[in-house]
Amino acid sequence: GLASLALAQEGAQDTAVPDLGGRTLLIGSDTTYPPFETVNQEGEIVGFDVDVMNAICERINCVAQFQTTAWDGIFAALANGEFDMVASGVSITPEREQIVDFTIPYYEVSQAIAVRVGDEDLTIADFEEGNLVLGAQTGTTNAMTAERLAGRERTRLYDTFATAIQALLTGDVDGVVIDDVTADAFAAQYAGQLVVSIREVASGDQLGFVVPQGDPLVDALNAGIEMIQADGTLDALVQKWLVA
Ligand code: ARG
Repeated sequence: GLASLALAQEGAQDTAVPDLGGRTLLIGSDTTYPPFETVNQEGEIVGFDVDVMNAICERINCVAQFQTTAWDGIFAALANGEFDMVASGVSITPEREQIVDFTIPYYEVSQAIAVRVGDEDLTIADFEEGNLVLGAQTGTTNAMTAERLAGRERTRLYDTFATAIQALLTGDVDGVVIDDVTADAFAAQYAGQLVVSIREVASGDQLGFVVPQGDPLVDALNAGIEMIQADGTLDALVQKWLVA
């Protein structure tokens, strides 16, 4: 009958590859976040998120155009229509789901603490109980973890993780709570000065891409994520950017 016909058509739509008709997606991103997104010496925005979005756009026929954006207010800016989506190593959280929509997860990270070389014996308890100060980027899940561990009094928040890491190097803070792969990227950049000695301070953060609430773009992006998962492209990009 009609109901089964409708079901059959829905089923057909589910398996069809979405086609965005060559549309340019303007993507807001805080590009101070290796290895997800940084600006290279040539001034190009590069990283895991860029390659993942380019791979998705190859499947669903779009052009991914990243635009450097401040992290603070990035979800409000998205909701105001300043760009089409956000790709910025964003953790899927219930608080954010109040104001934006997320794709299915495309990666999972854990949170870690980066410290100065020489401090690698510090434990979580040292940050919970002592006088040590933790840093993180404002408005991140990492900032919430820092405040949970050290309390607000002993937490310093920064506009970017790059500045939080500088504060660690100069001794303004004693540890930075940060997603593990980003911690490893900064530790590699500052080899001999920084180490990632405390891992799994918070359990897995699922990362998703972000669209305005109710935007059907999320369905096309989800289909794209599923395609690059199924054909091994996502795994290859994880190996390229995220596996030390
Ligand atoms: N995953 C963390 C969060 O969503 C940190 C993301 C920070 N991203 C960035 N591009 N600065 O809260």
